[in-house]
Amino acid sequence: MRVATALTVSQVLLGVSQASLYPGQSNLNHTCQLQTPFLSCSTQAHPDLTDSCCTETYGGLVMSTQFWDTYTGLESEGQVLPKDAWTLHGLWPDFCNGSFTQYCDLSRQYDPTPSPNTTTGKPDGEPVKPYDGPGIGTFLAPFGKLDLLAYMNKFWVSQGSPNSDFWGHEFSKHATCFSTFDLPCYGPAYKEHEEVVDFFSTAVSYYQNLPTWGWLSAADIRPSNTTSYSLSDLQAALTKGFGATPYISCSGPKYNATEAGKGTSDNGATVVSEVWYYYHVYGRVQRNQGIPVDASSNGGSVSNCAKVKGALKYPLRSVGSEV
Ligand SMILES: *[C@@H]1O[C@H](CO)[C@@H](O)[C@H](O)[C@H]1NC(C)=O
Ligand SMILES: *[C@@H]1O[C@H](CO)[C@@H](O)[C@H](O)[C@H]1NC(C)=O
Ligand SMILES: *[C@@H]1O[C@H](CO)[C@@H](O)[C@H](O)[C@H]1NC(C)=O
Ligand SMILES: *[C@@H]1O[C@H](CO)[C@@H](O)[C@H](O)[C@H]1NC(C)=O
Ligand SMILES: *[C@@H]1O[C@H](CO)[C@@H](O)[C@H](O)[C@H]1NC(C)=O
Repeated sequence: MRVATALTVSQVLLGVSQASLYPGQSNLNHTCQLQTPFLSCSTQAHPDLTDSCCTETYGGLVMSTQFWDTYTGLESEGQVLPKDAWTLHGLWPDFCNGSFTQYCDLSRQYDPTPSPNTTTGKPDGEPVKPYDGPGIGTFLAPFGKLDLLAYMNKFWVSQGSPNSDFWGHEFSKHATCFSTFDLPCYGPAYKEHEEVVDFFSTAVSYYQNLPTWGWLSAADIRPSNTTSYSLSDLQAALTKGFGATPYISCSGPKYNATEAGKGTSDNGATVVSEVWYYYHVYGRVQRNQGIPVDASSNGGSVSNCAKVKGALKYPLRSVGSEV
């Protein structure tokens, strides 16, 4: 189970755990055909002014996030990484100011190992109980979406846990905090888990527009265990591809704890590991009509990586971890 490592841009807010983000909402008339799809985080994107099923009115700063992992830990079970591609982490609904909530509807808790284990991450939060039912991956077959399931197993890959557990984590921790995936939005003919499948398909559609590996490769930045790279070059390549500055996250040793960086004041991390793309979205996030937004738009940092030229590793995957 992977957990976001760079929380500097956001902070967790206190307790939200009701079954619907806007209690008392009717399940009628949310086809969204007659609604103007307002831009999230604009003044019209407010639950008093528009249908929150048709314009995102809760978490309007939408983030599509990806990992660069070098192994999964479950290679022996066939859980491997896709060649020439970063993998999908998730699709998250941050508030417009960059803070966020999590596990917003505990009646749709499908995460076997909740992280954090309360809605606030603190002892005073509502406990998030581990889920022990059938993996969320089994929710797709009744909708005839085995092709989506196969795609997810290829590109939405977990490290250290089965893929399905990770998808359950992403759905329950994050997707339940979008207004447009709320149950009333699906109308009186709602079929159980319909919104789960809808979320997976939406997360995948964003991911498909964000070829991180290709954007880096076009700038001659390719995985290597011998070459080192500069944050500014990664930023330039991804900003050119995306149209706004994403957040680039690194793990591994701090630069000034390495031999090369000894004695410097650069304590950024040195192994490229994640990228977060920020959007404002027109109407339902399901429409996949996002406007790229700079990761710095809330005054936040755009990276935790070392800034010194040539300080970063973009490592090759382990032998046998990639197909
Ligand atoms: C749904 O739409 C119908 C037809 O326009 C209308 O009669 C009804 O009042 C609406 N229901 C709600 C809850 O808005
Ligand atoms: C950010 O926005 C949310 C939702 O509107 C609000 O509850 C929270 O207090 C805001 N946080 C800060 C730090 O302004
Ligand atoms: C959450 O995890 C912490 C640290 O492991 C533990 O002390 C606490 O009892 C757990 N809380 C719940 C509600 O499970
Ligand atoms: C690394 O840099 C940070 C911030 O500049 C400093 O606080 C820390 O002591 C440095 N660590 C080492 C090992 O030099
Ligand atoms: C490259 O380096 C990574 C990280 O140290 C390591 O896990 C991987 O096995 C190496 N890959 C190859 C092909 O040597």
